[in-house]
Amino acid sequence: MTAPLGDLSPERFLQEFWQKKPCLIRQAIPDFEPLLDGDDLAGLACEEMAESRLVKGTFAAADWSVEHGPFSNDHFSALPGKNWTLLVQDVEKHYAPLHALMQQFNFIPSWRLDDLMISYAATGGSVGPHTDQYDVFLLQAEGRRRWQISRSFEPELLKDCALNVLKQFEPEQEWILEPGDMLYLPPNVAHHGVALDPGMTWSIGSRAPSGADLLQGLGEWLAFSDEQGGRYSDPSLETGNRAGEIDVSALRGLRDLMLAGIDGNEDLDNYLAAFMSRFRLAHEPLPPAETRTSAELQRALIGGAVLFRNPWTRLTWIENECGARLYAAGQAYDCSTSLAENLCRGNQPHIDAALLDQPSLTTLTALVNNGHFLLTAAD
Ligand code: SIN
Ligand code: CO
Repeated sequence: MTAPLGDLSPERFLQEFWQKKPCLIRQAIPDFEPLLDGDDLAGLACEEMAESRLVKGTFAAADWSVEHGPFSNDHFSALPGKNWTLLVQDVEKHYAPLHALMQQFNFIPSWRLDDLMISYAATGGSVGPHTDQYDVFLLQAEGRRRWQISRSFEPELLKDCALNVLKQFEPEQEWILEPGDMLYLPPNVAHHGVALDPGMTWSIGSRAPSGADLLQGLGEWLAFSDEQGGRYSDPSLETGNRAGEIDVSALRGLRDLMLAGIDGNEDLDNYLAAFMSRFRLAHEPLPPAETRTSAELQRALIGGAVLFRNPWTRLTWIENECGARLYAAGQAYDCSTSLAENLCRGNQPHIDAALLDQPSLTTLTALVNNGHFLLTAAD
């Protein structure tokens, strides 16, 4: 599978651009044929499960408005001819064939990738100049869009506005993207895209937890552990403290207790892998109505049945002394590193069921019975 980077190799892209500077790639995907069109996107935006927004306005008029879906067909029929954008998140999870596009970005670790957001814009459509906290690949899928960017900008946002739009924006660089062109932006680069024709931009977004996300999750993880991260103690307490004061040695003791939850926590790697398998999870995978035994699962797979990863299941794994600990939407499973890697490769893993040992089969059965993999009958 070729990376959608034109003449750039993934190695050079990571060295020179990733998290460092913007990169325009003309014909990143030559002859790009979008698998969805604006009508498909509008249809998806009418569904309860989809997260969608409709943004109207222009930078010149500073008249931004945003509505959240689900929408109705009548809503779309009543839209004006210009200056609006429909955006839908997680589209690859709603429409499985788009997973192949996400796979082209596998030069980025899968746990760092978030989703495919698709926007359909009428001429003049824009979400205003803004910054994102994540790296994003903006692939022009249909029509032309002018992108303007600025790396040094005034961070003040427009007041009383439902969108995070910059109050001022002076572009430093601009390009007109045609279908197949792609603009990569690292976090915190101000950007402003305006549709020159009706068309679509497909944003492959990354995810990066904040320290606050990780510490909040760690607090919950410790609260559910036996020791609860230990408790503050002060066996050397002396008299003479001032009313209400938490003195320097007590502050150090509290801080050391917190740090022990990180540095002295033997379970920290498991926590991190579990956390990343849940971070920004939009919908919990649901278990199937009927469960299977491992013998039934093995027979079905040998008979040609195919496994599909539930699109809402995020998988991560870490290596440990016994093989791998795999996390699926926060749930832990033990398996071999090869099974873990296999299950994480694409959304339709190829498993040779006849060769599976019993522990691997048990893990796979649990993953199926917990709704992380769906089994489809052989044709
Ligand atoms: C858009 O597709 O309109 C917005 C994408 C972005 O700025 O991240
Ligand atoms: Co953006």
